[in-house]
Amino acid sequence: MSSSGSSVTPSVPTQRLMSVASHLNSPRFKVVVCRNLGPDVMSILEARPGLDLVVWPQDSACERPWLMENISGATGVIVMLTDKVNAELLDKAGPSLKVVSTMSVGYDHIDLKEAAQRGLKVGYTPDVLTDAVADLSVMLALMAGRNGGTGVDLVQRGQWATFSWAPFGLCGPQLSTTAASPTRKIGFLGFGRIAQATLARLVPFGITHCLYFSNPSSLPNHARDAALAKQHKLQGVSKVDLDELSRESDVLFILAPGGGETYHIVNETLLRKMKRTSILVNASRGTLVDSDALAKALREGWIWGAGLDVVEGEPNVTIDHPLVKEPRCVIVPHIASATLETRLEMATRAAQNLIGAILGREMPSEVNLSDIS
Ligand code: DGY
Repeated sequence: MSSSGSSVTPSVPTQRLMSVASHLNSPRFKVVVCRNLGPDVMSILEARPGLDLVVWPQDSACERPWLMENISGATGVIVMLTDKVNAELLDKAGPSLKVVSTMSVGYDHIDLKEAAQRGLKVGYTPDVLTDAVADLSVMLALMAGRNGGTGVDLVQRGQWATFSWAPFGLCGPQLSTTAASPTRKIGFLGFGRIAQATLARLVPFGITHCLYFSNPSSLPNHARDAALAKQHKLQGVSKVDLDELSRESDVLFILAPGGGETYHIVNETLLRKMKRTSILVNASRGTLVDSDALAKALREGWIWGAGLDVVEGEPNVTIDHPLVKEPRCVIVPHIASATLETRLEMATRAAQNLIGAILGREMPSEVNLSDIS
C-alpha cells in the first residue's frame, strides 16, 4: 500500500524478491519416494510446491540402508510392498513423519499398530487394481487347469516334437460347464472387491455356485448374497466354513489379506480335503499358503493344480523351490496388478494420498486406523 492508500504494482525485481522470500518462508516437507514412479506421476510430485523429494535412484527395490539413512526428518514416504514399515523405520523417521503412502492395496508390510500409535496417516490403492487382479486370477485358474505352464515350457524348450497330439495328452479339468458336467462351484477365501470381480468374470463360463469364507467376525450378508446370485443367475452364493469351502470348490481363489490372522490358512489339513480335480489360485499374499504342504498336495495328487501370483519368501523363489519343481504349479512373479493402465493409476493414487495428507486434506484412499489399538 502506498501512503495515499492506493495499491501500487511492485516492480519486476521487487516481485522476484517477494517470490523468493515467500518461497523461503513457506514450509518445506521432505518426502522420500522408494521407487521412481515414472514421468507422469513424478511430475505431479515435482510440481507440488514445498516438497523436497528424495528418490531412490535405482531401478530395483529400495535398499534398506538407503531408506534408513534418508527417512530421517521426512514428513512423508511413498513405499512399495517390498518396503517394510516397522517401528525401527518409524523411529528413524522421527516425529516429523505424517504419512506413509503405499503403492499397493495390501498393507501387511506396514505395522499399522505402530503407525496408529504415532498418529500417522496411511494411504493405499484399493479399487484401481481390482480389475487387473481379477483378470489375472482367471488367467491363473485357466493356466493351472489346462497345463498352461507345461505346454508353454515344452514349446519354448523346442520339445514339441516329443509331444504328439494324443486323445488325452495334456488334458486337464475344464473351467466351464459342459452338458455332461453341468455344475461348477467356485470358492473364494476372502470375498472383497477383487473376489467379486473375479466371480463376475467367471459367470460366462457357466459356473453355478459361489461359496466363500471370509472374516469369521463379519456377519453373513444374506441380502447381498441373494442379490449377487440373482444378478449372476447362480444357484447360490453362500458364506461357508473352511471345511465346506475346501471340500466343495472346483476352483478355490485365495483373495484375502496377508498378515498374522491368515498365515498358512491354506495348510495340509485344508488341502487334503480338496477335490482331486480342483485348482488353487493365490493372488493375494504368499503367506496365506504353506508352500511345503501345497507342493506335497500337488506331488501326491490331492489337488489337480495351482496358479500362483505370490509365494511366501518371494522374490527369493529359485528353481529348487518345491513349488517351482511341480509341473502343475504355474507361478508368475507377483504381476497381478501389472497392466500399464493400473500401475499408472496406483502410482497416481499413492502420490495423491501423500499430497492430501501433507496438505491436511482428505486422502483419496486412507486406511482406517481408528479400530487399531
Ligand atoms: C497389491 O497392491 O497389494 C498387490 O499385491 C499388487 O499386485
